[in-house]
Amino acid sequence: MTDIKELLLSRIRDVADYPEPGVMFKDITPLLADPAAFTALTDALAEIAENAGATKIVGLEARGFILGAPVAVRAGLGFIPVRKAGKLPGATLGQAYDLEYGSAEIEVHAEDLVTGDRVLIVDDVLATGGTAEASVQLIRRAGAEVAGLAVLMELGFLGGRTRLEPALSGAPLEAL
Ligand code: PRP
Repeated sequence: MTDIKELLLSRIRDVADYPEPGVMFKDITPLLADPAAFTALTDALAEIAENAGATKIVGLEARGFILGAPVAVRAGLGFIPVRKAGKLPGATLGQAYDLEYGSAEIEVHAEDLVTGDRVLIVDDVLATGGTAEASVQLIRRAGAEVAGLAVLMELGFLGGRTRLEPALSGAPLEAL
């Protein structure tokens, strides 16, 4: 295992039975509290953004904001929040997606993404891939191109990569 993987893994805390019985929650707050680990993560994600030729960073609410914003600053790019529905004050584009039980919707300010933008999506976890897939659709509907998806962790057993790869149409999916 590379040094950075070891460092990042050592700062992710497993919390059993949260938020409900049977779920092992991956808590990133120890990583955020460690400046060496947070800096290493930010640098690695910024390198992915540069290699992908990204011109903007999209962060997915809420932990994607914490990770994506410093990446945008480090890479010298703008940061665009994709929020849960009803949180953005301006004119928005929305994208609904299915959850195990029910559905959810995410939104972006329509004016924040334009044709010609190349967007790297940043989030903490890829689980089922539903949130990321909806964000890919949202970004494309705004006229922008998806340069890739970068996450700290991928929960491989939930099949997010298999679900997302067709939607990404060859754009890289990087899990640190
Ligand atoms: C979590 C996580 C990802 C998403 C991954 O966010 O931060 O955004 O779920 O799940 P998926 O791949 O199955 O879509 P959550 O919806 O819990 O929101 P939060 O960060 O605001 O708590």
